Amino acid sequence: MTVLVTGGAGYIGSHTCVELLKNDYDVVVVDNLCNSSEISLRRVAELTGKAPCFYRCDVRDTAALSDVFRRHEIGCVIHFAGLKAVGESVQKPLAYYENNLGSTMTLCRVMLEHGVKQLVFSSSATVYAGNNPMPLSEESRTGDCSNPYGWTKYMCEIILSDIARATPGFSVALLRYFNPVGAHESGRLGEDPSGIPNNLMPFISQTAVGQRRELSVFGNDYDTPDGTGVRDYLHVVDLARGHVAAMDYLKAHEGAAVFNLGTGRGTSVLEMVHAFERVNGVAVPYRITERRAGDLATVYADPKRSEQILHWRAERTLEDMCRDSWRWQSQNPRGYQSGD
Ligand code: NAD
Ligand code: UFG
Repeated sequence: MTVLVTGGAGYIGSHTCVELLKNDYDVVVVDNLCNSSEISLRRVAELTGKAPCFYRCDVRDTAALSDVFRRHEIGCVIHFAGLKAVGESVQKPLAYYENNLGSTMTLCRVMLEHGVKQLVFSSSATVYAGNNPMPLSEESRTGDCSNPYGWTKYMCEIILSDIARATPGFSVALLRYFNPVGAHESGRLGEDPSGIPNNLMPFISQTAVGQRRELSVFGNDYDTPDGTGVRDYLHVVDLARGHVAAMDYLKAHEGAAVFNLGTGRGTSVLEMVHAFERVNGVAVPYRITERRAGDLATVYADPKRSEQILHWRAERTLEDMCRDSWRWQSQNPRGYQSGD
């Protein structure tokens, strides 16, 4: 079967391409490279011995996207393409609504025109409301998002659920990712943020490699065991495997289904820093600073539904996440710009 992967040159998309090719799917990637490099796809081919078919175009370009559907007999789509920086979404809300909603709606229209009815969607734990008890199950309350990025994911979930309800034979898996970190164990694929990283793990690894002077730990007065924020970090390769599991589920089910992809375990900022130092034998200088606006103290998943229904479970440990992040960072200090 041929799988169309939108945003397949990006961080999670490139790792998912590897898992799909390993599972004998043919892969077609559509990406406009607004936040990625084609080098990631060359490395996917190097790791698997099979090259994804790549189209550099915007998912919102109806004509270009239709052409891809005409050229390939697509069986399923995994939709990663989108903008994802929380802070930037507050500064540029229109760009986020246009890209994330526009790409999802154009994709669905072209899919339906070509009779393609299986879709895996990248959602986020950010769709959960802030005042839920932990752990978060798929039944926890959603909405009250604190930024436009979160609202785009929330709205896409509604749009896709409505389309599934109205379209016989349509099936969509809404995957709510917790905190993806780590890299392919080869050190050839990883997260390559442009500019100053917003997220903890790339900031830690860039500090360890000497590109940043020190990590700012955003607050140590939360109601958590060591006062720093607690999150559910999962290895990006486990997350990629979750997409293959979701595709298997779609083959036998109609309608919309929501799944948390997380480990069910919380790790604090300082636990992560110390694990990274211990596993890799490097120093991560840090300083405690003010809390970051909008952050919650503790967020972690109840992953039971994914375990029971998708038969998926995150297998890699915190040590694996730290080791693989460092291998990627140390072998590619400037990300994909470090060369082939
Ligand atoms: P990424 O930026 O590395 O990948 C997204 C890819 O989509 C990039 O290659 C970018 O060039 C491409 N893209 C963006 N808009 C496009 C468009 N209109 N047309 C074609 N290509 C376009 O991000 P990622 O971390 O791999 O995230 C993938 C998806 O998962 C995103 O939808 C993101 O919102 C979601 N997600 C990510 C996280 C996370 O922490 N990384 C957490 C929850 C959800
Ligand atoms: N943190 C720091 N210093 C940093 C960066 C982060 O102390 O330089 C702390 C944060 O305060 C938080 C933890 O590290 O306690 C994790 O922060 P991230 O920014 O890595 O992740 P978030 O949980 O805030 O957000 C991430 C994604 C969102 C997504 C959300 C959903 O960035 O896009 O997970 O789970 F919506």
